[in-house]
Amino acid sequence: MASQNNGEHGKPIKVALLGCGTVGTEVVRLLTDQAADLTARVGAPVEIAGIAVRRPHKHRDVPAELLTTDAEALVESDVDVVVEVIGGIEPARTLLLAALRSGKAVVTANKALLAEHSAELFEASDASGADLYFEAAVAGAIPLLRPLRESLAGDRITRVMGIVNGTTNFILSGMDSTGASYAETLEEATQLGYAEADPTADVDGFDAASKAAILASLAFHSRVTAADVHREGISSVSAADIAAAKALGRTVKLLAICERVITDGVEGISVRVHPAMIPTSHPLASVHGAFNAVFVEADAAGEMMFYGQGAGGAPTASAVLGDLVAVARNRVHRGRGPRESAYAGLPVRPMGQTPTRYHISLDVADRAGVLSQVAAVFAEHDVSIAAVRQEGRVDDASLVIVTHAATDAALRSTVDKIGGLPVVREVVSVMRVEGEEL
Ligand code: NDP
Ligand code: HSE
Repeated sequence: MASQNNGEHGKPIKVALLGCGTVGTEVVRLLTDQAADLTARVGAPVEIAGIAVRRPHKHRDVPAELLTTDAEALVESDVDVVVEVIGGIEPARTLLLAALRSGKAVVTANKALLAEHSAELFEASDASGADLYFEAAVAGAIPLLRPLRESLAGDRITRVMGIVNGTTNFILSGMDSTGASYAETLEEATQLGYAEADPTADVDGFDAASKAAILASLAFHSRVTAADVHREGISSVSAADIAAAKALGRTVKLLAICERVITDGVEGISVRVHPAMIPTSHPLASVHGAFNAVFVEADAAGEMMFYGQGAGGAPTASAVLGDLVAVARNRVHRGRGPRESAYAGLPVRPMGQTPTRYHISLDVADRAGVLSQVAAVFAEHDVSIAAVRQEGRVDDASLVIVTHAATDAALRSTVDKIGGLPVVREVVSVMRVEGEEL
């Protein structure tokens, strides 16, 4: 087990850095540029003992003697802290479990790993008393997990809703403001270092779903994994959806929503990631590019919003360094960070039981009785209509319907049946509506 008090005597805190890509490179830069300040803040120097990578020849900016391809040996060596910025499940999982089991503190930005294997990681952390910090895993630079885990631990959080994926927000912002194509904006996000190694993790919503699982687990003191999260990405968002939203004073965002729901008198949680229309007056509508923003609602605290850079090397490295300082201080002062708390065990409700609202845009034949046929389908499924707008043309018309909240299953059945009506030429756009009360 690593020494718990070496910082007390001014001995360096030795760090094993696993990965030196977009984020790792910036971690090295900040540790080097701010070495003197970090020593003063921690009470001991923070030194990189080694850097594990796959292809050492590609890393000319870091001292060659620090590089290794043997991450396992580096973790087993005499280090105090393991910082993991490799990403993915393996070898990160095995390396971090080994680190925690041998009493080494862990700092990671790896949301995919935490959203699938947090139970065994926390178990290993609790068993050895080693710290496990992961602020960078959600919303990049924004201090969000520590407020949920610590500052709001005395309150009852009811809802967490926000934009937690920079790549998809960058793409949607580009499509909305400049009319740029999906492919162009994705390429730009990748060049800027926002996208995951496999960008389908971003555009198909896997990255946001992992973050939603982490947020829900912390906010509701329950164990939520990525598999529990209802997930829809942005690949189905069309130019027609964006235009339909604009016409109604709304904008399209990929949202992660974690909220308490009562079903048949029993409390559970809904955790979901999907595109949604929000009013352009909503604060989340003005979150552009790779920025993230998250609303938190709690019983006593009320509403809070966390906003900042959600992706990119330097912003993410800032969060990693914050965690590194925290665990290094804990080493120096023989303290320990907060433990996991999953005591509430709230069940995650299936999406079908979750109340949502829909915006539906239809191309219909412009003749008498069409509206009543469409309205009858809503009534049949017990879905209440909040607003209808019809624009007639020569021989057809567009009909836009916004519903009140109904179960997602009822809304889906309604849309399926409407699509089959002979008077409906095309279901142009179907999207959930969030962020407004009707
Ligand atoms: P990169 O793909 O840029 O870097 C990954 C690094 O890991 C590379 O240096 C690579 O080595 C190294 N690596 C890969 N496999 C191994 C292995 N088996 N053994 C040792 N080293 C290995 O990823 P990012 O820096 O973008 O992301 C890192 C983590 O941070 C991920 O978990 C990601 O989700 C998370 N994150 C990223 C953000 C971002 O904006 N980029 C924001 C928030 C979190 P080599 O260079 O030699 O190939
Ligand atoms: N690929 C992620 C994003 C990185 O675009 O938000 C930050 O977690």
